[in-house]
Formats: sequence, C-alpha cells, structure tokens
Amino acid sequence: MSNSLFVTKFRTHTLGELNKSNVGQEVTVAGWVAKRRDHGGLIFVDLRDRFGLTQIVFNPEKVRELHKEAEKIRLEYVIQVTGKVVPRPAGTENPKLPTGEIEIEASDLKILNASEQSPFEISEDSFVSDDVRLKYRFLDLRRKMMQRNLKFRYDVTRVARTYFDGQGFMEVETPCLTKSTPEGARDYLVPARLSPGDFYALPQSPQLFKQLLMVSGIDRYYQLARCFRDEDLRADRQPEHTQIDVEMSFIGEENIMNLIEGLLVSVFKNLMKIELKTPFRRMSYDEAMNRYGSDKPDLRFGLEMSDVTELFKDTGFKVFQDVIQAKGAIKALPVSGGAQFSRKDMDDMTEHVKGFGAKGLVWMKRSAAGEWESPVAKFFTPEVLEKIAKTLNVKNGDVVFMVASDWRTSCFSLGALRNYLANKLKLIAEGKYELCWVVDFPMFEYSDEEKRLMALHHPFTAPKDEDVPKLKTHPETAHAKAYDIVLNGTEIGGGSIRIHDRGIQSQVFECLGIGEAEAQEKFGFLLKALSFGAPPHGGIAIGLDRLCAVLLGAESIRDVIAFPKTQKGTCLMTEAPSKVAPKQLKELHLKPVA
Ligand code: AMO
Ligand code: AMP
Repeated sequence: MSNSLFVTKFRTHTLGELNKSNVGQEVTVAGWVAKRRDHGGLIFVDLRDRFGLTQIVFNPEKVRELHKEAEKIRLEYVIQVTGKVVPRPAGTENPKLPTGEIEIEASDLKILNASEQSPFEISEDSFVSDDVRLKYRFLDLRRKMMQRNLKFRYDVTRVARTYFDGQGFMEVETPCLTKSTPEGARDYLVPARLSPGDFYALPQSPQLFKQLLMVSGIDRYYQLARCFRDEDLRADRQPEHTQIDVEMSFIGEENIMNLIEGLLVSVFKNLMKIELKTPFRRMSYDEAMNRYGSDKPDLRFGLEMSDVTELFKDTGFKVFQDVIQAKGAIKALPVSGGAQFSRKDMDDMTEHVKGFGAKGLVWMKRSAAGEWESPVAKFFTPEVLEKIAKTLNVKNGDVVFMVASDWRTSCFSLGALRNYLANKLKLIAEGKYELCWVVDFPMFEYSDEEKRLMALHHPFTAPKDEDVPKLKTHPETAHAKAYDIVLNGTEIGGGSIRIHDRGIQSQVFECLGIGEAEAQEKFGFLLKALSFGAPPHGGIAIGLDRLCAVLLGAESIRDVIAFPKTQKGTCLMTEAPSKVAPKQLKELHLKPVA
C-alpha cells in the first residue's frame, strides 16, 4: 500500500499496515483518535482509519513540546503524526491486531481538526439506540461493523458485475422518472413542472424497461437498480432498495435458475469461503406451504407440518367440523419434547398465531406417562387420539399444535409458529446457509379486499404452457412460470418467464379485471412492443440489501445500507421528508390540502 495513491502529503502509511517489518522506519500517519490513555507521563493514542488501528506513544522525556500538544487531543480528533516504528515492550503486544506488535513513537504531531464530543462511543460494544445511530449516521458508519458491512455490500456488487460480465451481459440504465410500474406496491410520485397536473412515478422495479430491452435485442441485460416502493416498512423492507436486476432472451426457467446459482456460488465462494452444491433444492409452492407453512421456507431446521383434515372428519369438535365443512384445512405441527411448555408459553404461542390470522391454536400434550393433556382432548375418541399419535409420530413428552382455517391461513399461521419455535428452542445452528428455489406458483391469488384475482408475481408473468387453456375456464388453478430464490427463510429474489405473446397478455389482463382501455392507458407501450417481434424472454431480480443482510447475519437491512430510513420512512439525519417553500409548490402547480 505504501507505494500507492494512499501516500499523500498527509501520510506515508494507512493505519492497518504497519508491523514488525517496518520497525526502525520513520512514518507519517493520519486518522481519528479512537482512544487516549495517560500512563505515568506517557500518552497513548489509538489512531483509527478504515484500514485499521495503530498505537501512537507520546513520550514527554523525548519531545516535551509535543507532549503539551498531545494533551489537547480528545476522542475523534483528526490528527497527523510523524514518528518511528518501534516494537512494543514485551508483554504489551496485542495479538488481536495486525499492528499489535508495534507502536509509533511520535516526534511530530499536527491536530488537523478538532471534534465535538461524540454522542456515543464509537466502538463495537457500546449500546446505542437506533434513533441516535441514524441521526448521527456519519459517526455510526465509523464503527468497524458498519465499515465491514458497507465493504461486504460493495464486494457483492463487484462479484456480481464480474460474473455477469463474464456471461456476456451488459448493464443498461433505465429511467427513475417514469410511469407507474406494476409490482403492486404504492408508487412514489414526482410532480411534473412542465406538464401541470401530471406526475412521474419512481420505478418500483425496472420490469417494463428490461422487457423492452429484450424487444430491442439486448439479449442479456443486468443492472444494479434502485427501486422505490411506498409500502409499510419492516425489518426487511425499505422505501428504496437495490435489485440485481436481470433479463435474458431465448431462455427458459432452467437457464435463469442456473445463471443465479452460478452467481450465488461465486458470491459464497469469494466472500464467505463456502462451496455451494448445485443444483439447489427445488420445491413447489404447494409443498413449501404444506410442509413448512411458508412460500419462503427456512430449511435450516426440521419441524415439519402435516395435514390432518382427514383425521378429524367425524369428530365432535365444532371448531374443526365447521372448518371441514367450509372446505378448509387442519394443519398440525408436532414438536418433540414440547410437553414441557407452560400454560404461559401456550398463551404466548396462541397470540403469535392469531397475529397471522388464525382464530386459535389447539395444543395437545402427551405426558411422560402417555396421557393426553389438552383443552380439547375430551372431544376426541381414544381411536382418534391414537391415530393422531401414530400419524404424527407423537411420543411421550411431545406436543402437537393445530390450526384450523382456510388452507392458506392454516399453513401461514402454523408456519409462523414453526419459525417462532425454531428461535425459542434454538434449533438454528449459526453459520448455516440453506438455499432453495420455490417454483410452480399459482398465477393468481384471490384478494378479499379487492374482490378479484391478483397476480401473485406480476401481470407479465407467463402461465405454464399446459395451463394456458385454464385462463379462460379456471384461471385460479393456473400455474406460472415463476420462481423465487430463498435463503434461510428470506426471499432474496424472484422472477419469471414473461408473456411475449400479445394475445395471452390480453387474456391475463382479463383474468385480473384489467380492461383493454385500462391496459392501453397503463402499459400501452409494452403491448405495442410485444406486437413488434418480442423474443421469448424472462428474468429475475435479487434483493441486494436482503442478500447482504442474511449473509452478514444482520437483523435488519438497515445495517447494510449507508443511509437508510426509519420504519416511518423518514431520514433522521437530513430530516427528509420535509416541507418545501410555497414558491416550489406553486411552480409545481401543487396546493396542500391540509
Ligand atoms: P420482486 O417484487 O419480487 O420482483 O422483488 C425482487 C426482490 O427485491 C427484494 N425486495 C425488497 N428489498 C428491500 N425492500 C423492499 N421494499 C423490497 N421489495 C422487494 C426482494 C425481492 O425478492 N420485477 C420483479 C423481478 C422480476 O420479475 O424479474 C420484481 O421486482 O428480495
Ligand atoms: P374455544 O372453543 O373457542 O374456546 O376454543 C377451544 C380451543 O381451540 C382453544 O384452545 C382455541 O385456541 C382453539 N381454537 C379455536 N379456534 C381454532 C382454530 N380455528 N384453529 C385451531 N384452534 C382453534
């Protein structure tokens, strides 16, 4: 490094590179004061930059004037020090630091800038509230963990760019000021000054543009694309996120899956030192829902669910009977050793599943002596109880949880309990990564709110060839050429083969209740393009923020974004969003209602 562009008038070395081999050299370094200790007249300073930490010693017996100046140094001051690299006295080495065997004996000191007292100590173990971290993000980013996260994110993008480049892709930028795109969230709108009353929308994804690029013959496109979605935020959602966005022509589902497996193999190999085996596991949407209660199953632990609707066909428990009559499903989750759960545990778990739409949670413990213990055991004959034990392989000391509802709610709520229990029972080994593709998604999902079918992925996703006739008769049973990639229970990406046939596109719009006029108004440009020789094409988008967060074990994607927003979509540092001057509103032809 010392012969690189890092050598400037401020420094000869950065703070992570000096070691025993430099002993005897005179060096100049610059950085932030991370620690200051006074020890029997000696002043020790830990100086920090992005590259590491180096210890400086100010010895009053050697340079008296300098020592006076050194006394002025406070935490987070920016200083420049010249001195000699010397070995640390025996017994004071720090084997944890690459620079831990040496220190710099200062012969010159320049305070380049003072610093106010930091609102929190910039170290790994200081506890700081999220709000303070976000308000002073520029200080928070000085922490080693955050610097590591940003570097890791950069490394992922670097590996991705190299990978796609090697596969003949080219990056094309698509507009940020555009028309509403169809990913199903609310749009962020930008008023158009030059067209009074009109608005641009910020893209929820480059979906339509990447399809148009295929019509243009680009063949293999990728982009690290910023996407904007005005939705309710959670730990894995931000108003703006970045996608590794991909589209290819003349391909089928397998080609996209192979491509992305190659990308992830490369990311894991280069950045995690883990060799992934391909092909990754593939699981149908139905299997994922039935066995794991999720369309993004966490496969790092067992705890599989079963369907027990049949078992309860003729029992006297009204809750179950009603659900069976309404053609719902009863799902069961047996938990080995779960008979130890207390009444309070059961109440907590019941509340948990209710949060996911279940009306209640049946639990049935099998005691060490083999007795059933449950508020509902009385409704079941000994034969039914025996069948439950046998079918679910329930042993003494186990518990069975059950939810009865419509199929989706039963699966999802018990799946949520499955994840809850994995944490409670600490079933997830650290450093484990389980990837799988979820395929065979239904084309549509019925929305109770909108009283119509909605696209499960988006309206441009192609139906399976054999299901095309179903679009006219039973669209709700049609399946899509769509795939999601799931890592440790997080959906890190999703995509599909697109419709390249104008006629099928119209049929799908019809299923979604989008009339010809509305389709023309919203996506006329795409429909036009489809009628000018659109090649068969498809693609995928990987959520960069989520991928990095899972790989780094971060609790929230905020930890892998330099300047993220709060749950309320605000930036505590810049105080965005904020009021604007009346003049600006006037220029934009806007008038606040409130
Ligand atoms: P989709 O909507 O599934 O597909 O998004 C792709 C991936 O982007 C990530 N993601 C998010 N990450 C953080 N915050 C958000 N608010 C957020 N929303 C989505 C997820 C998700 O899997 N155009 C299609 C892709 C395609 O069909 O090619 C699309 O955007 O990891
Ligand atoms: P209840 O008859 O409503 O008092 O419910 C008896 C037990 O069944 C309680 O433990 C409830 O949590 C549970 N329960 C109620 N509705 C459901 C349901 N739809 N699925 C599973 N358990 C339920």
